[in-house]
Amino acid sequence: MDWYEDLNLWSGFSAVLFSPERERRAAEVVATSPLLAFPPGSRVLDQCCGVGVFTAPLAQQGYRTTGVDLHAELLDRAAVVCAEAKVEAAFVQADVREYVAPGAYDVVLNLYTSFGYFEDPEENLHVLRNAHASLAPGGRLIVDLLSKETYASWVGPPKIVDIPGGMVVMRDTILDDWSRYRTDWTMVRGNTAEHSSLTCYVYSATELRAMFEQAGFESVECFGDWDARPYDGGANRLIVRGTRARTA
Ligand SMILES: C[S@@+](CC[C@H](N)C(=O)[O-])C[C@H]1O[C@@H](n2cnc3c(N)ncnc32)[C@H](O)[C@@H]1O
Repeated sequence: MDWYEDLNLWSGFSAVLFSPERERRAAEVVATSPLLAFPPGSRVLDQCCGVGVFTAPLAQQGYRTTGVDLHAELLDRAAVVCAEAKVEAAFVQADVREYVAPGAYDVVLNLYTSFGYFEDPEENLHVLRNAHASLAPGGRLIVDLLSKETYASWVGPPKIVDIPGGMVVMRDTILDDWSRYRTDWTMVRGNTAEHSSLTCYVYSATELRAMFEQAGFESVECFGDWDARPYDGGANRLIVRGTRARTA
């Protein structure tokens, strides 16, 4: 089993990954970010939506939102979050390497470092190609992740995050001359410790921009955070946006 297929990783570490603080921050970002302001009623696909941290606030804005994820259990949680917020969203259990809905969306989002998971670089590019094929002409893809440049500014000693009833120790290791990284997570609760690790590609802005262009996107732009600041020394994240051409 590849690491991303392990539901225990996503649900076991959900206190960190899908925390109430993240939900609060995502709702704020969706409500205020100029990068996430789309025409009313836009059809939005949330690739790798997890438990709907972004899906629910997007639906709340009135966008016709669909979340896709590999894990049915996470989608079930996302559906509950939407029901509690009294908003509607569609959910599809699928692998992003396979999910394509030709021309069905105005916007495709891939958020919170949900990209670069596959060992074969072609498969990561294929995710961008699927997004391109799923967009209507003029539609946009936005990918948000920790880039090589932003990662370099904070990778170092292990970090400890408090969670209800315990803590998670996170240690990052850079691999293959900065092509990839491994994150090792240990969750300690009482006398028990659980360990998981994930390995992911890490891209520079130039590398991800080139992949967008290879996948067919035009007008590719990079931003340094959700306030649409430039991707420069003050960047906190890498957000890349590309457009599907209006004419073939
Ligand atoms: C870091 S989480 C981010 C979830 C969500 N975007 C958020 O902001 O909370 C990554 C998600 O990718 C999903 N995932 C991993 N591999 C996948 C695949 N091959 N196809 C679809 N989803 C996948 C996981 O189940 C997980 O929910």
